[in-house]
Amino acid sequence: MVALDVKGREEALTLANVLLGSGCWLKVGMELYAYSGPAVVRELKSLGFSIFLDLKLHDIPTTVERAMRGFVQAGADMINVHCSGGYDMMVRAASAARDEGNKLGLVPKVIGVTVLTSMSEHQFRQELGIERQLQEHVVSLAKLAEKASLDGVVASAQEAGAIRKNTTPEFLIVTPGIRPAWSEADDQMRVLTPHEALAAGSSYLVVGRPITRAEDPREALERLWVR
Ligand code: C5P
Repeated sequence: MVALDVKGREEALTLANVLLGSGCWLKVGMELYAYSGPAVVRELKSLGFSIFLDLKLHDIPTTVERAMRGFVQAGADMINVHCSGGYDMMVRAASAARDEGNKLGLVPKVIGVTVLTSMSEHQFRQELGIERQLQEHVVSLAKLAEKASLDGVVASAQEAGAIRKNTTPEFLIVTPGIRPAWSEADDQMRVLTPHEALAAGSSYLVVGRPITRAEDPREALERLWVR
């Protein structure tokens, strides 16, 4: 999944056209959505891409449920919510997506965000004041997401192995924080290479800057697999 973290429709479409036919998904996150909204999701979909709408919903259950219906109408194939919104919020998000998706003929996957891959173990303890180990927290949120009938979670590939061991084989693990050996870590703290992430049990890899900031994004996408 290529993270289209760009400022608006034009930049997004330029990248999408370069990536056309590669088989990748496109991830529309907060930045692009802030500038171009649901219209850009529809436009990218009409080019044939599957879309992961990465807005990380986190609000009271009723608000999330109602917003979810709108995001399903935009045509997203995958939508995420923060697991830390709690069990009830996740249940309501998943059932709204199924209900609205059934009416439209496209039921998106609903995925839970565990802990952001930009967060270090130190920040997790010092800033959030959570006493258990980060990995233990991630696994516990993933199990809660599965119980709430979410389709999977977003997590660092470093935690993918532990999540795999504690959830069913169908449970999806979407992993950002992917950095091939030839790229920079940027602000990601818990990074793995594409090969390591797949070996750890990732179902989908999310890659942004190593592709989108490359001189030739298509070539960078192909080069992901170079060790
Ligand atoms: O450029 P980079 O490869 O770091 O992009 C990673 C993408 O994945 C960004 O769009 C970021 O918002 C997203 N993401 C993340 N960590 C999460 C969930 C999503 O980095 N836990």
